[in-house]
Amino acid sequence: MTQPTILITGASRGLGAATARAAARLGAHVVLSARSAAELEAVAAAIVQEGGQATAVVGDVGNLAHCERMIAATIAATGRLDTLVNNAGIIQPIAPIAAAKASDWEALMRVNLIGPVQLTRLALPHLRASRGRVIHVSSGAAVAPIAGWGAYCASKAALNHFSRVLAVEEPEIVSLTFRPGVVDTAMQAVIRVAGREGMPEAEYGRFVAMHHEGRLLPPELPARALAALALFAPREWSGDFVQWDDARVQVLKKETS
Ligand SMILES: NC(=O)c1ccc[n+]([C@@H]2O[C@H](COP(=O)([O-])OP(=O)(O)OC[C@H]3O[C@@H](n4cnc5c(N)ncnc54)[C@H](OP(=O)(O)O)[C@@H]3O)[C@@H](O)[C@H]2O)c1
Repeated sequence: MTQPTILITGASRGLGAATARAAARLGAHVVLSARSAAELEAVAAAIVQEGGQATAVVGDVGNLAHCERMIAATIAATGRLDTLVNNAGIIQPIAPIAAAKASDWEALMRVNLIGPVQLTRLALPHLRASRGRVIHVSSGAAVAPIAGWGAYCASKAALNHFSRVLAVEEPEIVSLTFRPGVVDTAMQAVIRVAGREGMPEAEYGRFVAMHHEGRLLPPELPARALAALALFAPREWSGDFVQWDDARVQVLKKETS
């Protein structure tokens, strides 16, 4: 079987870095992207040290020229693209709708929505050729309103519906959105700092308590599920919003480990 190539954005830390490691262990050549060059190179080096194959491409998903470079570097590395994982994301502005600035909404939408849309468009000729997959990392916030997270909730809801439209437009590929649970990453640390001002006390307290009580998921758990989906999600699931611990994903993990 030809070795699959997976491009993962936001792979310098958190869920993206853990997914890159998990996908490499499953045999993929992983192309990692993010803005922080040193962190990205460190994740790529760790994968190579474990016997995997990795290529790092520095870039900002909010910048179209950088998105073009990510796709070009992927094709230059292996000549193919089997899966795009749109994982890079930001949570700020954390602020009520009455207070958040338009420029902050625009900055978030560039990263969480426009970047994934443009990367998907650029990846499509290669994904059609490989009959590949695009997995968009979404959130429970796509379907549950969280006060103070207006921009984030709206971006993930839009991503979910974008994925559904893609699924009906492109029957040759699989398009899924992924719900990773509440994960112990830098994004949660941002919520615990900025949420104090920007969220209602009870809502903010819920996230602080999850951290204090050790209820945040280690990134490796949803990452293993995301890697299995990136490599093996069947065509019939296209258009679905899939939670990390969905029974179907557990079966897929078992069958493909
Ligand atoms: N943590 C949670 O509880 C949780 C829950 C539901 C969904 N999610 C989703 O999971 C995904 C990963 O988040 P995480 O929790 O792993 O957060 P994280 O630790 O903050 O990681 C975010 C990643 O995105 C990258 N990134 C941010 N802005 C970027 C940009 N403009 N261009 C390219 N890369 C950019 C960051 O790298 P650089 O800063 O180096 O660019 C980093 O690698 C996000 O889509 C998030 O919405 C997280």
